[in-house]
Amino acid sequence: MATLAELVRQHTELSKEDASHLQQLVGEWGMLADLCFADLVLYLRDTEGKWLVGAQVRPATGQTIHRSDLVDTPASEEESALLESTFTSQRISEAELDKVGIDDSVHVLAIPVRGETGPVAVMTREWSSKTSRQPGELERTYLSIFQRFAEMIAGGAFPFAGRAADLSAAPRVGDGAIVLDENARVRYASPNAVSALHRVGISANAVGQTLSELGFFDSPVRQAFERLEPVIEEFDQTADVTLLVRCIPIVADEVATGGMVLLRDVTEVRRRDRMLLSKDATIREIHHRVKNNLQTISSLLRLQARRLSSPEAKAAVQESVRRIRTIALVHETLSREPGDDVAFIEIVRPLLRLAEESLQSPDRPVRFVVGGDGGRLPATIATPLSVVLTELLQNAVDHGFPEGSDGGVVVVQLDGDDEEMHITVVNDGHPLDPGFDLDAATGLGLSIVRTLVTTELNGTIEIRPGRAEDFVAVEIEGRPRGGGTVVELRLPR
Ligand SMILES: Nc1ncnc2c1ncn2[C@@H]1O[C@H](COP(=O)(O)OP(=O)(O)OP(=O)(O)O)[C@@H](O)[C@H]1O
Ligand SMILES: [Mg+2]
Repeated sequence: MATLAELVRQHTELSKEDASHLQQLVGEWGMLADLCFADLVLYLRDTEGKWLVGAQVRPATGQTIHRSDLVDTPASEEESALLESTFTSQRISEAELDKVGIDDSVHVLAIPVRGETGPVAVMTREWSSKTSRQPGELERTYLSIFQRFAEMIAGGAFPFAGRAADLSAAPRVGDGAIVLDENARVRYASPNAVSALHRVGISANAVGQTLSELGFFDSPVRQAFERLEPVIEEFDQTADVTLLVRCIPIVADEVATGGMVLLRDVTEVRRRDRMLLSKDATIREIHHRVKNNLQTISSLLRLQARRLSSPEAKAAVQESVRRIRTIALVHETLSREPGDDVAFIEIVRPLLRLAEESLQSPDRPVRFVVGGDGGRLPATIATPLSVVLTELLQNAVDHGFPEGSDGGVVVVQLDGDDEEMHITVVNDGHPLDPGFDLDAATGLGLSIVRTLVTTELNGTIEIRPGRAEDFVAVEIEGRPRGGGTVVELRLPR
């Protein structure tokens, strides 16, 4: 679907300022539709003088008469005549029209939208007698406020100049509305606004008093009346009630002749925000405890290994200690990171440090290098992936640089895009056995790798002898020797 900005660009020659004036109007007009209980439609005049719909909004306070989407449809001849005369006379005008698909005749109030230098577009309020609300005090008050905003639009005073605020969370008319007179005294408070005032302990009849006389935090109102622009503020009105308040001044001849205060009780939203924050802290604490427990387990196993006499059993238990330490390391990283994802590099660095400490031996020095960054990964896959990486590092050292060789480089390269992570572990040591078949490998290390990669990580793994170009791609400094082994992991994100 075309956006207003696109339609303006395609069909009109409006200046950038005028285009952003319309954009701001559309940013604010949900409030206007709510105040007039009716559909609002913004019509653009194309370069040939034809009219088309640029945007529309439906009221949250009333019924729409436009069931279908009007954007990017042309105006009828009858409509065009009304729009054209409104545009050229720059006067608000009204007509009763027949519209295709609507049984009843449609009342149309056409308001010229004035930009910096002249008319820019026409906004209409469209309703039928069948859908309009029974007029009561609320309806009369809101409609008269709408009229005043309509005059501001025709005079170029609404929407307010300046940077468009993000109003997605701003209070709407239905949340609670207070109408102020030129002295910032309450002229009318909607039932929802009265309830909000009750909740903060203000039960007096508000009409005729200023908000500060009522004991209400009125800084947004004071600022809006002084600066002649909308002001939005959130504050704790009482110890347990947080209100979001927006005050829009009504301006005529550069003085505030009234104002509209919209308020929303955001106590519940903020309480949930706070809960989420504390949930985050809880998750981190749990990771911390898991790490401590794992460290305890690995200490117990280490003690056990010392008591074993068979070298084979000793080695097996020590392997387990190493694997558990890897998992503990991941939990340590997760316990420091807020949120439920983690920078991959934050996981890889401590793993390499661990490998450096535990796998090095002075007679065959191995340098560990990490390249790329790998982005962020969900905490859930950080643990299996780390276990996999540890096994691959271990193999690169064990089989690439066996006892008696002269050492070399192990590179972990992290690449990929939004869809896939691409992890390469390369060593430039002893070449992979040419007859090596991953599916036939029976060692525990690769079994762990294969199982985790295919089940928990849903990825693929490939092991092949290194070629000279592998070492160019991973940028091993110095002399790329070739040989060695390349392990490639591809994991969907
Ligand atoms: N980076 C590598 N370079 C050369 N050969 C490798 C490499 N990785 C694995 N291999 C071959 O695959 C075999 C199986 O590896 P695997 O990790 O499963 O077992 P392992 O390393 O022998 O024992 P462990 O269970 O202690 O890891 C190895 O014995 C080795 O021959
Ligand atoms: Mg191994």
